[in-house]
Amino acid sequence: MKSRIIYPLLENAFNKSDIKEAQKVINTQRLTMSVITSRFEKEFAKYFGSKYAVMVNSGSSANLLSVFVAKYLHKIKNNDEAIIPSVCWSTSLWPIVQAGLKPVFVDVNLKNYNALIDQIISKINRKTKLIMLVHVLGTSIDVVKLKNKIKGKKIVIIEDTCESLGAKLNNKYLGNFGDFASYSFYYSHQITCGEGGMVTTNSKKNYNLLKIMRAHGWDRDLNKKNEKNFNFVNMGFNLRPLEVSAAIASNQLKRLKSFAFVRDLNRNNIINYLKRHKNWDNQFRFVEPEKNSTPSWFGLPMLITKKYLRFKKNIIKNLNNKGIETRPIISGNFLNQKAAYIYKLKNKKDYFPNADYIEKAGFFIGLHTKLTSKKKIKILSNELLRIKID
Ligand SMILES: Cc1ncc(COP(=O)(O)O)c(C=O)c1O
Repeated sequence: MKSRIIYPLLENAFNKSDIKEAQKVINTQRLTMSVITSRFEKEFAKYFGSKYAVMVNSGSSANLLSVFVAKYLHKIKNNDEAIIPSVCWSTSLWPIVQAGLKPVFVDVNLKNYNALIDQIISKINRKTKLIMLVHVLGTSIDVVKLKNKIKGKKIVIIEDTCESLGAKLNNKYLGNFGDFASYSFYYSHQITCGEGGMVTTNSKKNYNLLKIMRAHGWDRDLNKKNEKNFNFVNMGFNLRPLEVSAAIASNQLKRLKSFAFVRDLNRNNIINYLKRHKNWDNQFRFVEPEKNSTPSWFGLPMLITKKYLRFKKNIIKNLNNKGIETRPIISGNFLNQKAAYIYKLKNKKDYFPNADYIEKAGFFIGLHTKLTSKKKIKILSNELLRIKID
């Protein structure tokens, strides 16, 4: 029998004011994208310091839209190459394949699971037209260092910031370093409206085409005074969000800083408790963010160290039996997934030992937006450290 969940991966993320804002929209009976979405886009752009923001119905859609707009405007051709870390989310990757580009994978580091910059550089050739940077689980890759190394090259950078909303690098919010940035408001993320996403950019050209492709390839959202109302000026999708999602996300954005503060505090409390526990024997290695960064957590990922690796199944089983939920780190090494085989994404030379280790040794538990009690931290720690080799 499954035990009661005492420490879930995610807790209820909505409060009364979120529901009130949603209710207000429902009462207007205007559910399709309209003024609240545009208002939220402006708020979002201002908050994170970008010029433009375009809301969509998910983080996956934000990636899809960014890749297709980048392909069209930056004259990227079929079979041109896009570099992507092997530890990524499925929909960081699939838009690249769907747009007819060739994904080229790189390994990640064991400190914070972000792509290895030197490997990115080593894989760049004249066919490389795009880099999909995935900021992992509230942390960031050092984009500044990467950009310095590829200065002068015409390569589009998309920062997939779906897991790191609110994190900073060199005191600047992530999403401000590339040509496009994508964000997700999925249930478990830093802020949520159930489902939703955003793309930001500083280029007016990108912005206009993002709006066109978001909605059928139609130019209706460009505020142009057209003689003709139904102008289809490019290819398109329908990735529009609902007004109600914008209303909730906008209300949640007001609490982003306090969510991040409490999550960081919970993380420190848990790690400090573990390290002072009588059974602490360096069973786990925790994420070490880049020195010039401020992370924005929503989970507490860890790697089981070599000495304890053979106990991974037991550690996870003990936690789950006690009602503590766990999950793998993103999708592990994506090249080990069945979908990667179906689409023949793995190259003979692709060997990513760090991504494999993260898949084999990694897991994460939740980090909540309310203060986690000492009692819970004790239960959590006792379970995490139940196994000790003498
Ligand atoms: C790195 C990354 N990119 C994209 C996505 C997709 O976001 P969504 O679930 O909103 O479609 C996720 C989802 O968790 C993600 O982790």
